[in-house]
Amino acid sequence: MRTLKHLFMDELADRFDAEKRLVIAMPKMIEAATCTHLQKLIRAHLKETVGHVKTLEKVFRLFGERPRAKKCEATIGLLKEGEEIALSNKGWPVVNAALISVAQKLEHYEIATYGCLRGWARLLGNTEAADLLQAILVVEKAANHELSELARSRSNIEALRECESTDGCDEDKGIKSKNGQRGVRPARTSRAYRMAVSSR
Ligand SMILES: [Fe+2]
Repeated sequence: MRTLKHLFMDELADRFDAEKRLVIAMPKMIEAATCTHLQKLIRAHLKETVGHVKTLEKVFRLFGERPRAKKCEATIGLLKEGEEIALSNKGWPVVNAALISVAQKLEHYEIATYGCLRGWARLLGNTEAADLLQAILVVEKAANHELSELARSRSNIEALRECESTDGCDEDKGIKSKNGQRGVRPARTSRAYRMAVSSR
C-alpha cells in the first residue's frame, strides 16, 4: 500500500539528489557566465544550496529516516539542456541571458517541488519539517526573483545587441568586429535597446 508518507519520502529523496547535483553544476555555470553580477548571484545561491542539502538531511531525520537520494531525472535533463545552451551561446552577448533562463527553469522546478513537500509535511503533522521546507522555499523564490531582476535590468538588454552590418557579422566564421566582440555593436545604439529601455 502506498501512503502520503511514502510519496513524501520519495519526493524528498528526489529533491535531495537534485540539490546535490546542483552543488556540482553551479560552479560550471559561474565559469560559463561573463557577467560579474550573475557570477555573484550564482555563487551566493550555491552557498544556500549547500545549506539546503544539510536542511534536507534534518528533514529526513525528523521523519525518523536516514537521508537517501533518488535519481532526479528532471534535474538531470534540465542540467543537460543547460550545458547545451551554455555551449551554443558561449562567446556571444546572449550567454548571460541564456544562463539565467536555465537557472530560472531549475528554480521554478524547485519552487513547485518544495511547495508540494511543505504541504505534505503539514498534512503528515510534522510542523518542524514543514517549517524547514518553507524556509527553503522562501530562499528559492528570492533567488528566482533576483534572476528575473538581473535579466530585466542587464542581461536581456546585452542580449539585444545586434549584428554589425558594416563589419560583416558572420556567425559561422566567427568574424570579430572592431569592438573586439564577435559580430556585435554596442547595445545602446540599437533600436531594440531603446525600445527595451522605454518599456521598463
Ligand atoms: Fe535553487
